[in-house]
Amino acid sequence: MTTSDRTHLAAPPLPPGRSSLVVTGFMGTGKTEAGRRAARLLGRPFVDLDAVIERRTGRSIAEVFQQEGEDAFRSLERTAVADAARLSGAVIATGGGAPLDRTSFARLAEDAVVAVLTCEEPELLRRLRHDRDRPLLTHDPPGRITLLAERADAFAAAGGSLDTTALDPEQAATALVERFRSTTSAATEVRIAAGSSTVVVGPGTVAELGFELRRAVPEATAAAVVMDEAVEDTAGASVEEALRRAGMPVLARAVVPAGEGAKRVETTAGLWNTFLACGLDPTGVVVAVGGGTLTDVAGFAAATYLRGVALANVPTTLLAMVDASLGGKTGIDHGGRKNVVGAFHDPVLTVADTTLLGPLPIRLIREGLAEVVKAAVIASPLLFELLEGDARRVLADPALLAWVVEQAVRIKAAYVSADPRDRHLRHSLNLGHTFAHAIEAATAYATAHGEAVAIGLVAAARLGAAVGVTDPGMAARLEALLVRLGLPVTVPDGVDPAALLEAMTADKKRRSGRAMFVIPAPGGVDLVEDPSPDEVLRALRPEAAT
Ligand SMILES: NC(=O)c1ccc[n+]([C@@H]2O[C@H](COP(=O)([O-])OP(=O)(O)OC[C@H]3O[C@@H](n4cnc5c(N)ncnc54)[C@H](O)[C@@H]3O)[C@@H](O)[C@H]2O)c1
Repeated sequence: MTTSDRTHLAAPPLPPGRSSLVVTGFMGTGKTEAGRRAARLLGRPFVDLDAVIERRTGRSIAEVFQQEGEDAFRSLERTAVADAARLSGAVIATGGGAPLDRTSFARLAEDAVVAVLTCEEPELLRRLRHDRDRPLLTHDPPGRITLLAERADAFAAAGGSLDTTALDPEQAATALVERFRSTTSAATEVRIAAGSSTVVVGPGTVAELGFELRRAVPEATAAAVVMDEAVEDTAGASVEEALRRAGMPVLARAVVPAGEGAKRVETTAGLWNTFLACGLDPTGVVVAVGGGTLTDVAGFAAATYLRGVALANVPTTLLAMVDASLGGKTGIDHGGRKNVVGAFHDPVLTVADTTLLGPLPIRLIREGLAEVVKAAVIASPLLFELLEGDARRVLADPALLAWVVEQAVRIKAAYVSADPRDRHLRHSLNLGHTFAHAIEAATAYATAHGEAVAIGLVAAARLGAAVGVTDPGMAARLEALLVRLGLPVTVPDGVDPAALLEAMTADKKRRSGRAMFVIPAPGGVDLVEDPSPDEVLRALRPEAAT
């Protein structure tokens, strides 16, 4: 394969989410300990950027300084700060030198509350006296910290200060939390812009659906609710109640059978009939409540009825929250092919209430997480590292899962905003999917989509490493993370390689003769066109390679 077969797609900027709390200050002021405790009190993930650099380099900060010098360390620090600026709603402790690079620090501070921890010099000397791991202090005369004065301007410019001289770490954390809460809203919900539509994410947000809808479509007069039968008594009932509370008449409720089989023309026609019978007119809104199957078919009915009426999505699966309910793709299966008939129809509003995931079988949570991992690989290295560190907790802790959903929604929203009609940049979201579609087809859909994506992600990283683009360690890291999330990473036994290639060839024919693979690349992805069948098979089944 030649380099001309590849196109780089850089990850776009991400839309704002909830504010992060950034804790900075001179060494010895207690940033890490106070930050960690503040994160616990706030129930937010904690990121220590010095620890990030140590993990990424496999060395201590002192060793990096000694072996590569300060400039090399600052470059690593700039990257870590830029990666942290792509997270929302986290608590981030930076190294003491991070504010010196005012441009990179300003990006981190932009949507954040910044607290600069300070400490009087004698107390600082006391705290640092036994610390031999501070390379920048080794040349100071006894009893002096010369850097303190040198850095004073940069710290003053970084944000409001918090004097920790007389505070223990818990007191400092409490003060940080008070400052954060006095500057930011206490709401757990977050509004994210996705192209022309708004996504409201957070626990309990479905209760606000009616008011949100009134805000998004002030001219709306009534709604028709379409729901998956599995959520009729739960999310469906909550949606109807929320509409009633906002004084929005519900003209009809249509209950659609669960499962992919509902994505067909007969279901769509049934919905058109319901809309006609209840008198839904162009001022009406279709509210779709369910997983990706439901939002696809209800969205398609809304896109085509009266040449398009407004659509609001209330996703009830993780996959639908982070993927299917955002981005305007609606459609049905037809003639034995998935999603072959459809239309772009952007929802005016998506309400992703993470408490609705409560009754979802764990298998479907895992499947949705495959798409979250994909989003992290293409657009957020630190989200990926957080998932690596906390994989099991993501499965067990609803608050952490809600935070992860917020990050994944911001990533999908960024791609949708930058490329609303899936012409170029949005192809990045197909990472792992060319492999996944072949695995699904070759196993006659016995392998679920999210599971196939997990296998496909590892294969994409292997293909990327084989062409010299993807970090050679990425495939192993992906394997380890996906296994911890309970997802498969190898093609199921008994799947014939020829069947996989045949599925890819059929797919290729449908795409004007081009087979497009997405591989992880620094800062985004590369598109690779038409790799050889050997390379593709080696990526899928390295153990079978000759
Ligand atoms: N439009 C897009 O951009 C897009 C993107 C990705 C996937 N999709 C489509 O999404 C579909 C898959 O979506 P999915 O994975 O959400 O599957 P799904 O909608 O079929 O839901 C999976 C199962 O979970 C049940 N369910 C839904 N919510 C539940 C809840 N809260 N509690 C308990 N059970 C619940 C459903 O009844 C169903 O049995 C596919 O058809 C795929 O083509 C579309």
